[in-house]
Amino acid sequence: MIYITGDVHGNIERFTKEKTPMIGKLKEADCFLVAGDFGFLFRMNKAEEENLNYLEHLPFTILFIDGNHENFDVLNSYPIEMWHGGKIHRIRKNILHLMRGQVFTIENRTFFTMGGGYSIDKFLRKEGVSWWKEEIPSEEDFEEARKNLKAHDFQVDYIITHAAPEKIMNMIFPNHAPELKLNLFLQEVMDKTEYTHWYFGHLHQENTYPYNVTQLYENGLVLETDK
Ligand SMILES: [Fe+2]
Repeated sequence: MIYITGDVHGNIERFTKEKTPMIGKLKEADCFLVAGDFGFLFRMNKAEEENLNYLEHLPFTILFIDGNHENFDVLNSYPIEMWHGGKIHRIRKNILHLMRGQVFTIENRTFFTMGGGYSIDKFLRKEGVSWWKEEIPSEEDFEEARKNLKAHDFQVDYIITHAAPEKIMNMIFPNHAPELKLNLFLQEVMDKTEYTHWYFGHLHQENTYPYNVTQLYENGLVLETDK
């Protein structure tokens, strides 16, 4: 079983039965997938270490794509390994960062992953301390995505992103120039790729849109898979 949810921002309560009743149903073979802004590796202090220790002792696998509230110096310091067909950073034995532009096969479904987003609170944050320019994917990230989608004949079951493709972003937040490069890239993905459903987070709202797109925040759902 794969449970997907939106931004958790390092909030350990999201991993309790009180806040997320599904937590009690996830077993060893199951996954808890976060569509960006995982936020458990941000300050790298004692409290975060304790939270990661707590997460490491949960029975299931925690998967996340990166959002715009992540510490990219820390995330990128982990070695890269292959997992289920795509590149990851293994944070702990059961906590995996699904890297940008990858295609993973999990429970017989294919997942294209693309983290990143623009921080509207950037002016409150300090570069290298609480904000990182890597929040917006690079041309190299886009090329990695194009290469891996092509290798899968531009067909996947699920697309998991933090930001939204341009057509969707225009419906929610028409004035989004700082993120436009990413939104246009995601629109290219939408136009070229056959997919069953697209999930994204980022804007702290929940909604459904045309083109089989769902916006996630605190409420999650179980994805249809073979298990
Ligand atoms: Fe967020």
